[in-house]
Amino acid sequence: MEPYRDSTRPPAERACDLLERMTLDEKIGQTVQIPSHEEKRALIAEKAAAGQLGSVILAGTTFAGNDPCHQIDREALNDFQRLAVEKSRLGIPLLYGRDVIHGHRTVFPIPLAQAASFDPEIVRQAARVAAIEASADGVHWTFAPMVDISRDPRWGRIAESYGEDPFLSGLMGQAAVRGFQSDNPAAVDTLLACAKHFVGYGAAEGGRDYNTAEITLHTLRNIYLVPFHRCCEAGVASVMSAFHDLDGSSASSHHGLLTKVLREEWGWGGFVVSDWGSVWDLIAHGLAANDADAARLALLAGVDMDMCTNCYSGHLAALIQAGHLPLERLESAVRRILEAKFRKGLFENPFLDTSRAAQVMRLPAHLEAAEKAAAAGSVLVKNDHGLLPLARRPKSVVLAGPFGQDQRSLLGCWTLDGVAAETPSFYEAWRELAPESIASQANPALADQALIHFGARAETAVLFLGEDQAMTGELNSVADIALPPAQVELARHAKQRGLRVVAVIQCGRPLILTQLEPWCDAILILWHAGSRAAHATVKMLFGDLEPGGRLPVTFPRHPGQIPLHYNHKPTGKPFGRFQPAREDFSTVAEKYLDVSGQPLYPFGHGLAYTQFRYGSARIQNSPENRAALLAGGQLVVSLEIANTGSRAGTAVPQVYVRDCVAEVTRPVRELKAFGKFLLAPGEVREIRLAIGQEAFGYYGQNGQWRVDSGRFFVEVGDHAHSTIRLPFDLPA
Ligand code: GLC
Repeated sequence: MEPYRDSTRPPAERACDLLERMTLDEKIGQTVQIPSHEEKRALIAEKAAAGQLGSVILAGTTFAGNDPCHQIDREALNDFQRLAVEKSRLGIPLLYGRDVIHGHRTVFPIPLAQAASFDPEIVRQAARVAAIEASADGVHWTFAPMVDISRDPRWGRIAESYGEDPFLSGLMGQAAVRGFQSDNPAAVDTLLACAKHFVGYGAAEGGRDYNTAEITLHTLRNIYLVPFHRCCEAGVASVMSAFHDLDGSSASSHHGLLTKVLREEWGWGGFVVSDWGSVWDLIAHGLAANDADAARLALLAGVDMDMCTNCYSGHLAALIQAGHLPLERLESAVRRILEAKFRKGLFENPFLDTSRAAQVMRLPAHLEAAEKAAAAGSVLVKNDHGLLPLARRPKSVVLAGPFGQDQRSLLGCWTLDGVAAETPSFYEAWRELAPESIASQANPALADQALIHFGARAETAVLFLGEDQAMTGELNSVADIALPPAQVELARHAKQRGLRVVAVIQCGRPLILTQLEPWCDAILILWHAGSRAAHATVKMLFGDLEPGGRLPVTFPRHPGQIPLHYNHKPTGKPFGRFQPAREDFSTVAEKYLDVSGQPLYPFGHGLAYTQFRYGSARIQNSPENRAALLAGGQLVVSLEIANTGSRAGTAVPQVYVRDCVAEVTRPVRELKAFGKFLLAPGEVREIRLAIGQEAFGYYGQNGQWRVDSGRFFVEVGDHAHSTIRLPFDLPA
């Protein structure tokens, strides 16, 4: 048996043996990915049989996530695979990729909502279920997790991100990688994961998708690269480059990032795939004169696989034969791709057992996990007079709002296999779970009349508001993130009719709720929460489930404030200069004449159905000096929390750190630890949260990681602006 066919040998060894047997065309073939839409099928078959194709992306168009036109044909996947494995000279299997971003047939909340759970286990479980279902449809590789730090809610793709914080995004990205890949990536129910879009895509100027990102190296290292580093540490199999230009290059031709940082500095051994067409885009960026130039630049920079262009397939052979590209650069790309295929077990299990799909799709356990995730990620941002949870009283509720009967939007912007018709609407779920409480389910077009007609009798109006999923996702950035005036009017109308008003906001980004807020007694940010969003919502509103989320992104009070994020720099004009912040937590001189400089709802904010008192906080113990911290010492913060309400509830204390004097300017605070603690009514508990050297370190002027001694503030509280401040001096 040839060594590469021997599954007892390590992937690296098998890849080297196979590489030596390959022709130049076969090597180039592994760096090529073709889309699986109809007109490409003949080409796929031809290239697979010739052993000159590495991967097929199961997608109809470049806007895969927003364009669920392409359903998987499981038999066709086996047909193509048979050509690659049985017809070609070396039998190298194809790698099937697809955007399985937040679920497959069981759709989970969008990643932004999953981040709001502040619970990595929720993210891991969601990815695990997605892998079980998508792998049964023949998918080997997903283009997730997306770990772009997103500070601009105008950007449509904030919906796919884990929000504005590097620490939270890193934890969630790692959890997603573990969920997709599991501990044994060769198992049949796993997916190779792909951290994307490397790097800085979320900083697109103006929030306009694909736009330039002006990011200093210092901010790249201390903010944007952090979650990618965490995913690489977690063993992510692949990384996807990006469309935008930064630092004078494209993210798909930046050697300093794609090779020096990703490989040489981090020692990461996976493979890099371009984004769809981003190699060819180098021409549009004005960085390449033609396809051949684009291919040369991208491969030299560190892009191993070309997604859906002819640049690599059409030009690498000539470039290498003419001496414009070193053969070993191509071979290093091929070796990484082959290693991933060996690690995935493709050579041993190339074909799909088509009977599995019927056994695993939308299992009750999967739907339960999706419902749990929907509640865990929902954020109760307002609940005056403890209006929620509602009492179950006959004909006490009027249901209205544009999304009451909606099904598709609940699934969010990046689902290819979720089926809207299988997704209960809010009205359906309410009829199923609490029919007696309904006074009316207003026809969205006639909501006002329902309020007039039924308002007198009912006590509460529950309004399903927010934004359609089509306003979010790729190429769906918006300049105005205000809630449509008609929705505000509906709430005002209900309030002025004497009803108590609950707004359930489904969204894929922070929306401007400033005008809505005064007319609502309670506001629940549901996000686009997946297959079980409606059931989770009804159960939350009646208290059978608790909205467990905290905001992973800042909600501005006015779009003119954007970008507005909690971990901003102190600037040279901080208000208060370290004296206790003002009651509205202003930490910098108000920046506008017309609008407060503060958010409507800050990062980390979220209410429970009970109240908590944060009591004494102290630094339980700390490393005696810098060396001890660097040697693995931990600082433990203890905090007393009391549940002063009459219901059990989950507190989410957060620990933030401020480095008061450093080689570079450091944020006013950065999230470094958090926990979720369920407290019984009346319970008082001392909780402890530990932080290590990574909480005190940063990348300095020359990009080197450093931990300084000196003064820090360790803050603990239940959101970024409500913290108890504990000074901490780290001795040299
Ligand atoms: C898209 C997206 C990327 C996605 C890829 C494949 O353009 O930018 O996130 O994974 O192409 O669909």
